[in-house]
Amino acid sequence: MQFEVWTKALVAVEAECLVIGIFDEGELTEEARAVDGAAGGRLAKLVARGDFPGRSGETLLLTEAQGLKATRVLLIGLGSQKKFNRRAFRKACASAVTALARTRIASAAFALTRPSFKDQDDYYFGRVIAEVVGNALYRVNDLKTGKKPKPPALETVIAGPVRGAGVTAARRGLTHGAAIASAAAVQRNLANLPANVCTPTYLAHQAKALAKPHSSLKVTVLDEAGIRKEKMGCFLAVTQGSAEPPRFIVMQYKGPKAPKAPIVLVGKGITFDTGGISLKDPPLMDEMKYDMSGSAAVIAALTLVATLRLPINVVGLIASCENMPGSRAVKPGDIVTSASGQTVEILNTDAEGRLVLCDALHYARRFEPAAIVDIATLTGACVVALGSHHAGCMSNDDALARELVAAGQRSDDRAWQLPLTEEYGEQLKSNFADMANIGGREGGAITAAAFLGKFTQGLKWAHLDVAGTAYVGGANKGSTGRPTPLLADFLIHRAGH
Ligand code: BES
Ligand code: MN
Ligand code: ZN
Repeated sequence: MQFEVWTKALVAVEAECLVIGIFDEGELTEEARAVDGAAGGRLAKLVARGDFPGRSGETLLLTEAQGLKATRVLLIGLGSQKKFNRRAFRKACASAVTALARTRIASAAFALTRPSFKDQDDYYFGRVIAEVVGNALYRVNDLKTGKKPKPPALETVIAGPVRGAGVTAARRGLTHGAAIASAAAVQRNLANLPANVCTPTYLAHQAKALAKPHSSLKVTVLDEAGIRKEKMGCFLAVTQGSAEPPRFIVMQYKGPKAPKAPIVLVGKGITFDTGGISLKDPPLMDEMKYDMSGSAAVIAALTLVATLRLPINVVGLIASCENMPGSRAVKPGDIVTSASGQTVEILNTDAEGRLVLCDALHYARRFEPAAIVDIATLTGACVVALGSHHAGCMSNDDALARELVAAGQRSDDRAWQLPLTEEYGEQLKSNFADMANIGGREGGAITAAAFLGKFTQGLKWAHLDVAGTAYVGGANKGSTGRPTPLLADFLIHRAGH
């Protein structure tokens, strides 16, 4: 996909199709008026007749346009002008791409009025357009054997209007937006795969394959013997019931002129979570193939920083295994020793994410990180608390939490901070070990974070619980690619871009 900006008159832009927004009040936008003028008043007439009410997401393709270089005009409903915000703008762009993808149009000039709001500068304007175009063109790599539909013809999107000094910023935004959409697609492709394909071994191979084009990106993989050497007793307890071997994946990105201390991203990579001996109910269990979404987001983020050559150092750590029942599986009440030396009584084998993460978080210490962020589909309790709109953000450092929440806002991939005060940690008391791996029903998302907090003392650390946001179930089942946009914005800002 090629992206460009247009700066002068829309009617002079060379594209097969002009994409124009219409509000439901029926008043033409500045761009629509310009096109209308060139096209002999056809647009105004059409709207006045009520043939295009401008409802949000609605589209109408006009062919054989007269008086324009473009032979087609695509109208996009923007809904109410008063309520036109960044979400509505995103929705309008996505509807445009979906409509274009059904045609053989190869190039389109977008002239959708920008909403006015904070942060909506030229950079974000470009970034949103490229990101939405990329996301709307995403097709799941399914394993259906029938005839594949023709891929969309769209190759070039020209966004505008952009004026003066904004051109450079908008172009940079387009580049970043395209990279964010590609990274989100990396996450979605990995997460959508079934667990019999996407095993820990497969994930490690993919991390290596995706790093290959980038000399700045180095990947090393620990097998079970290597994991044992690191004394990751909690991680080993989770994997011991599975015939599928575990992998610990280390991705290291060195940026140009980067400050030494890296950002470390830690991903939960449970390729399938049956619950283990504390077996889950059958309904929706298939969705537990998405329990490696955090690790897929880490791989995605590392490909993004390498693609954009950001001037920061980033390390990605992934603890990947299955959580299975079986004669060798860890049992409720078993006590194991983590890599940190702390002992853990495993009261519920379904609270396995925190067990693989705690050893990965301990491993992160050797990098003397500037900050650590872990990403995990960790608790059903977080879904109950926040639904599927916000990820849960918990941290031992308020400034870091605020930074992530702000990144979520700017990227429309929101997170909400939950409190992580010491009382929650007290719920993890065990009679037999340093701690239990569960803290009871109350505040389940936070007690999970409190558990991780026992392994990150003295480090600047934040935890993103993406159990509710990383995928959708039901008829539109699939990975959402979240929180890759949030992580991307966080890293871009850390790099001072
Ligand atoms: N992977 C699940 C969390 C999850 C639940 C993700 C729903 C997405 C949707 C996690 O491993 C888990 O099973 N957590 C338990 C923890 C409990 C046993 C303390 C849960 O949330 O029920
Ligand atoms: Mn579980
Ligand atoms: Zn899990």
